[in-house]
Amino acid sequence: MYNHIDRENPIIAVEVGVWEAANAKRLLDEFPNLTLIGVDPFEGYQDWHMYIESSYMSEREKITMETMKPYIESGRFSIIRKYSDKALEDLEDGKYDFIYIDADHSYEWALHDMTNYWNKVKDGGVLCGHDRSLNGVKMALEEFTATIAKNFTPSEEPQIDSWYILK
Ligand SMILES: C[S@@+](CC[C@H](N)C(=O)[O-])C[C@H]1O[C@@H](n2cnc3c(N)ncnc32)[C@H](O)[C@@H]1O
Repeated sequence: MYNHIDRENPIIAVEVGVWEAANAKRLLDEFPNLTLIGVDPFEGYQDWHMYIESSYMSEREKITMETMKPYIESGRFSIIRKYSDKALEDLEDGKYDFIYIDADHSYEWALHDMTNYWNKVKDGGVLCGHDRSLNGVKMALEEFTATIAKNFTPSEEPQIDSWYILK
């Protein structure tokens, strides 16, 4: 998917699901022209393999804030501390160069995020995400590409098991 991202001009993107910001940092280092907005409530949630406690998520938030300090100070990274559906109200339609979805991997949330965040991607931009081989994401991708968007492309960028769709 990196081939489809503008490296010459300033770009703005969203990552839905931040965890410890490892991927956010990777993206910001890969694209020096990028400003990134992370969406994550840092609350307890049911992930595909287990329930993640909120105390554990507080630690992830702390790590995120430490790791991202220089990027926050330079204005290249900011966080919306909300669930992905609530964060929609803080994001403009048709604005973002790319949006990477890696939050709740259940079918319902994955489909919800794909559908709602598709509207936020600008024309010519990229909707992408992680864990295309997890059942919930796989089913959501099939549904989403059958009803709303074009076929997805499997990708190893920015992480193994990613996917992307050009808008
Ligand atoms: C797999 S981790 C993200 C990993 C991160 N993208 C990376 O590669 O470094 C999933 C994250 O999604 C967040 N999350 C879970 N449900 C969410 C939701 N409904 N909206 C936004 N974020 C959510 C969790 O708090 C967690 O930090």
